[in-house]
Amino acid sequence: MKRVVFNQKGGVGKTSITCNLAAISAARGYRTLVVDLDVQGNTTHYLVGEIDAEAFPAEAQGVAALFKQTVGSRKMRQNPDSFVWETPWENLFLLPSSPVLNQLEKELESRYKIYKLRDALNKLDSEYDRIYIDTPPNFNFYSKSALIAADTVLVPFDCDSFARQSLYSLMDNIAELQEDHNPELEVEGIVINQFNSQARLPGELVTELEEEGYLICGTYLSTSVKMKESHRDHRPLIDLAPGHKLTGQFVDLYEELEAGRG
Ligand SMILES: Nc1ncnc2c1ncn2[C@@H]1O[C@H](COP(=O)(O)OP(=O)(O)OP(=O)(O)O)[C@@H](O)[C@H]1O
Ligand SMILES: [Mg+2]
Repeated sequence: MKRVVFNQKGGVGKTSITCNLAAISAARGYRTLVVDLDVQGNTTHYLVGEIDAEAFPAEAQGVAALFKQTVGSRKMRQNPDSFVWETPWENLFLLPSSPVLNQLEKELESRYKIYKLRDALNKLDSEYDRIYIDTPPNFNFYSKSALIAADTVLVPFDCDSFARQSLYSLMDNIAELQEDHNPELEVEGIVINQFNSQARLPGELVTELEEEGYLICGTYLSTSVKMKESHRDHRPLIDLAPGHKLTGQFVDLYEELEAGRG
């Protein structure tokens, strides 16, 4: 099962949601892989901290190495699992990002490598119970590759009126990609993040989106400084603060999505 978390708007919670849902999945005993497709590498940093550039040269890292080997000799190709790293948590694995993703993008695009991630993740699908994919805040080669590779997509929304504007073009982009490349892709819903129940505007925005026919996940995530502490300490919330309100909301969201899988 491959789930991508995508919104082309920056800072809406893609990385926080990907990593925390994946960590809950791993804690429940599922072998879980997180794929970091964002050159910013926030997911990689969140889950494994600073990377020793000498031990792991940029080109030899995770997702970049996986894409790189699709260009050139077929003989040298390694199993995608050889680019996967362990994390400090049982059952949680990472296909890390790399700073060379930017340089690689044009070449991959010009050589029509848009289906290569799908091929690689289809191979890994039997090794992992759940695959979560974090994406960059752009509708670029990597996020398109992810939407083509995934079974489902979750769209974080941070209750800001600019986010609403970009949501319309985002949903159009997803619909076009579904039609052209991945008709099986299921839009699981919009995840309301940083919801403030005390303020009037967020509730109004969500109601309007529902009236416009968008599918909204029933569990809303609130704002908490625990999220920033969790990033700073490189510990997902289920490990850092299992009893915290925001952790409980992530668990509820996780269960809602699992139940939806039928
Ligand atoms: N529920 C939350 N409560 C408090 N802070 C949050 C919450 N969700 C996200 N944040 C904060 O908002 C910022 C952006 O979050 P995050 O990195 O997850 O978003 P993103 O969509 O992945 O960003 P980018 O588009 O840059 O990849 C981070 O500083 C994070 O700590
Ligand atoms: Mg991110």
